[in-house]
Amino acid sequence: MTTNAAAKTFPVSEAVGKMRPSSTLGAMQKALTMRATGVDVVDLGAGEPDFDTPEHIKQAAVEALQAGKTKYTPTGGTRLLQEAILDYYRREFGAAVSYDFPEVMATAGGKQAIFNAVLSLVNPGDEVLIPKPYWVTFPEIVTFAGATPIFIETEETEFELTAEQVERAITPRTKLIIINSPSNPSGRVIEPREFERILEVVAEHNIHAISDECYLRFAYAPARVFTAATLAPELRARLCIAGSFSKTYAMTGWRIGYSLAPAAWTKAMLKLQSHSTSNATSISQHAAAAAFNGEQSCVARMLAEYERRREWLLGALSEIPGWRCFQPEGAFYAFPDIRGCLRGEVRTSGDFADKLIDEVQTVVTDGAGFGAEGFIRISYATSLERLQEGVMRIKQVVEQMIG
Ligand SMILES: Cc1ncc(COP(=O)(O)O)c(C=O)c1O
Repeated sequence: MTTNAAAKTFPVSEAVGKMRPSSTLGAMQKALTMRATGVDVVDLGAGEPDFDTPEHIKQAAVEALQAGKTKYTPTGGTRLLQEAILDYYRREFGAAVSYDFPEVMATAGGKQAIFNAVLSLVNPGDEVLIPKPYWVTFPEIVTFAGATPIFIETEETEFELTAEQVERAITPRTKLIIINSPSNPSGRVIEPREFERILEVVAEHNIHAISDECYLRFAYAPARVFTAATLAPELRARLCIAGSFSKTYAMTGWRIGYSLAPAAWTKAMLKLQSHSTSNATSISQHAAAAAFNGEQSCVARMLAEYERRREWLLGALSEIPGWRCFQPEGAFYAFPDIRGCLRGEVRTSGDFADKLIDEVQTVVTDGAGFGAEGFIRISYATSLERLQEGVMRIKQVVEQMIG
């Protein structure tokens, strides 16, 4: 049998067969392929900081390597990193944050923390609530676990999730809700009081919650940085926080994140992780400890630059005919509604994203992959200069479309 024939007959498992490839990684791949052929691509698709990892963090990794910290670590991570995570939360968010060692574990990125949390909780037949628009990976993990994603529509509140919307979506089969604030892709930040109300609904109905706080630090005033770790202990009893170093410290390639969850949930996640990746990379754990223990001015500098780009971008998008863009309050994405400019052969946001690549070599991400057809995601985790070039190209296309 030839290699091709074998590939065609490969009996892919049902669980993986049902998965859709990540549309955000797909856009990134497209950009890379075009760039490799010498094309001047403007990539506004990537959910990845354009900054380098701060020097003191890299240095900690070099020191760890030189000191021979290249062996397995405990499944939940080194004591050094666990302590750094707990200290960081206490220092940054106050004494009310009372997590302890059996409740913290290091993971290979925030993504693994979410995988661990879902797979150690849900069963086939369970329903998992996912507010729209959602990060593409959430429904895939839920389906992989044999459970059913139930999407919560939030367009009526301009994508701001409310406790009332959550309450309406709960059925006797609901087991879990996955919340992501600041949100990828919408940039929405749930108000602390509304977040608390949502967790009250979770507690009343005896379900569980995952709070994906991957963009924790990315809230632009008047929105406030808020972690569910500051909620009352009785509301945290059913909550798993998934955290990440990827975006905050420009460490996407280091694959390092963590979870904070009740001891029993963490114990189940440790069991699962011990049979999958064992532990997060030892060297990355040292780097991550330095990130949380070290000075935070590197984060402030990056945030100031994101804010500058965001201001410029919002102004520029408001001038595009047929587009509507509410103000993103967090993360590093704008999520305009482009339905007002769709016409002729360009009927969907996917058609529009394809047209941008084909005609002006500019990559944005189609909102349909996030459950929001008619929207596109524009990342401003790229230099202001490239952002300006990209938006100029987008304007050209829209103007030519609407005549
Ligand atoms: C909303 C959200 N959660 C989690 C992650 C996972 O981040 P990582 O696995 O790199 O920590 C991402 C990355 O894009 C994200 O956008």
